[in-house]
Amino acid sequence: MHVFTNRPEISNAVAKHKENGSKIGFVPTMGALHRGHASLFNFALQKCDVVVVSIFVNPTQFNNSQDLETYPRDLQADLELLENINPNLIVFAPSTTTIYGTNIESIDYNFDGLDTVMEGAFRPGHFEGVATVLKYLFEIVQPHFAFFGEKDYQQLQIVNKLVAIEKLPVEIIGCPISRHDDGLAESSRNMRLTHNHREIAPFIYSTLLKAKELFDDKGIEEIHHFVTNAFAESALLKLEYFEIANARTLEHTVAKRANESYRAFIAVFAGDVRLIDNIALN
Ligand code: PAF
Repeated sequence: MHVFTNRPEISNAVAKHKENGSKIGFVPTMGALHRGHASLFNFALQKCDVVVVSIFVNPTQFNNSQDLETYPRDLQADLELLENINPNLIVFAPSTTTIYGTNIESIDYNFDGLDTVMEGAFRPGHFEGVATVLKYLFEIVQPHFAFFGEKDYQQLQIVNKLVAIEKLPVEIIGCPISRHDDGLAESSRNMRLTHNHREIAPFIYSTLLKAKELFDDKGIEEIHHFVTNAFAESALLKLEYFEIANARTLEHTVAKRANESYRAFIAVFAGDVRLIDNIALN
């Protein structure tokens, strides 16, 4: 497996594959790879001739320095997992200086409100950091397709917007959420859960499923009450937000409209581990 750490080398390697007519897929990650990432790599490998995976813990998307410090990093374990999935994967594992030089700052973007709700409201500046690193990574890797999980559905919408704003020549592919057998969405953060929190964490998805069941017959407010009450009874899980939003604009929904798609979004603390999930409601 080829592992590149600097810009010209990865750019040249990709350019050579393009000259041979290969379709290039790209899966950006922050490492701590798990089965959820593996499903993205497999989507990319099915659609593309050559797949590049980046491993880079992006400092500008952390609004909490402790979160950045404690973010799990194990490059060796990540490389072993990638090698087992497919030794033809190309890895790009740059340093912070390679990506940002000496200016570790986000670019100012106007995402028409997509970035100020839900995750954006609770993690100010997070999406500008995500967009900034993706702009740099897309410019370096120059893929035809880039793959993102729907677990970070809001991020996926922001990436689509970024591509439109920057007119980047890449097609964004959203991939379904990968879940454990008990329903918990795969996440790098799951490995930080205590035994008791891991046992109770599938309650997040089962509550989303109930919200989806209620969506046909009940009003938005009633569903909010149902979810809030369900979490109020849990000693181990603390609800940060539950939101029903327009799937396209991510605007908070107070009443359903015909011909619109809606999604429910949730963020929950299991001890000090923050978990997010979402589900299509119609
Ligand atoms: O979803 C992630 O892991 C990160 O936000 C991303 C897209 C790799 C950007 O750092």
